[in-house]
Amino acid sequence: MTTTQSKNSHPQKAQKASSVSENPNLPEGPSSPYDMQTTAETFLWLNDQLSVYPDIFSVKPEKRKDTALLVNHPDFLKQILVSKQDRYQKGVGFERVKMLLGNGVIVSDGPFWRKQRRMIQPAFGKDVIEKLVEQVKEANLQLLEKWKTLAENNAVINITDETNELALDIILRSLFSDDLESIFEQHDGNPFSILTDDSERNLKLAVKFRGLTKIVADIIKQRRDNKADRLDFLSVFMDARDKESGEPMDDKELIDEVMTIIVAGSETSATTMNWTWYCLSQFEDIETKLHAEVDIASYDQSPGFEHIMELGYVRQVVEEVLRLYPPVWLYTRKAIEQDKLGEFDIVPGTDIFISPYYLHRHKDCWDDPEKFDPERFQAETIKQRHKFAYIPFSAGPRRCIGDFFGIVETQIHFGLLARHFKLSFVEDHPVELAPEVNLRTKFPINMRISFRH
Ligand code: HEM
Repeated sequence: MTTTQSKNSHPQKAQKASSVSENPNLPEGPSSPYDMQTTAETFLWLNDQLSVYPDIFSVKPEKRKDTALLVNHPDFLKQILVSKQDRYQKGVGFERVKMLLGNGVIVSDGPFWRKQRRMIQPAFGKDVIEKLVEQVKEANLQLLEKWKTLAENNAVINITDETNELALDIILRSLFSDDLESIFEQHDGNPFSILTDDSERNLKLAVKFRGLTKIVADIIKQRRDNKADRLDFLSVFMDARDKESGEPMDDKELIDEVMTIIVAGSETSATTMNWTWYCLSQFEDIETKLHAEVDIASYDQSPGFEHIMELGYVRQVVEEVLRLYPPVWLYTRKAIEQDKLGEFDIVPGTDIFISPYYLHRHKDCWDDPEKFDPERFQAETIKQRHKFAYIPFSAGPRRCIGDFFGIVETQIHFGLLARHFKLSFVEDHPVELAPEVNLRTKFPINMRISFRH
């Protein structure tokens, strides 16, 4: 790994009399000011910068206040995300997300975040996920029936829409289980489908989405009144007690966490399934190997939690998709205390940008990084790699809380549907990246569906 040390003999280093905060030793970077954002423009700009400064660079802000660093070296990332994580908090770019999610766990910080994370954590343990897999199975079995009709006609399906709808269905079933039917009845359909119907992620959508909190508030009230016995994320959230005060979450906290799970847990998983179907359609040998695995696995109708271990290759394929197309391709931290990354000074206020997309294609971390190769995720090969060269779910205390659920969900999906169907890419337009909040495909992907057997 080259750490750009030779490029970083900063002239200010010589001025010993001044303090670090006035005169930090910063890594080299582009001379023109720039504000990184989750946009296609930044995506291309980063590509250019990282070809010159592959591990770390600094850039002066244009409109923002603080200097920014793009950190793309696994040692530095380990420090920011794990070993010195208490010197950093969530960074820029969450303003819009806050409008959607109030003070849910993905945007909050400090003691409040710690309390909320502890409260919702039990919902993501193996014992709860094992039971929620029933909901995942149900959603996929419904899709199986729909796809059977489509396959009879060799129809063209829009897999981007299909996976968006499936992932939303799964997360809503996992949150509300038996109450979902009554929500649909009362609202003449799925009121949350504004998330899948509307591909724009703007203020208008934020306002509409925030309007849905009333539905969540009603369900919470009904459950409190009726003492309904459910097993889903919401019930675990409602049963949770703060270990210091013994208090449960109040309604506002519950609503914010529910909205957070809907947003954080649907588009990420949908994007992963979308890219995975696309990659399978492009690499026949990999598709064949995956088919062989799902064909001999021991389930009859659908895989359940007990079959996850039999779907190891499906997992490897999904992990490789998350390497090349990590849904959360750019995220941020803000330094709240002094730190040092190698020889570089981090002063409080510094904005840190982390891009799994570019880290996962770093030449010093990966052999032939552009090649789609699920063999990279064999247990033995993983051991030989720097642990922090692969962070699609981030790392440390703020690592994705839904990482296990997300992987299991995709294993069930491919374990069931790839046993029955082959999807062949319809080349109506090229597949392009849309690097927004999530790394989606710019245009929906169309696939011709056929029965495998
Ligand atoms: C393949 C699917 C997924 C990917 C790639 C993914 C990725 C991530 C990443 C990178 C973060 C950290 C963001 C940051 O630090 O700024 C994160 C946080 C989070 N994710 Fe996921 N996620 C996925 C699925 C899910 C699912 C299924 C759920 C819920 C069911 C979920 C819930 C959350 C929550 C609540 C956080 C905030 C955790 C905290 O700050 O304490 N995610 N996710």
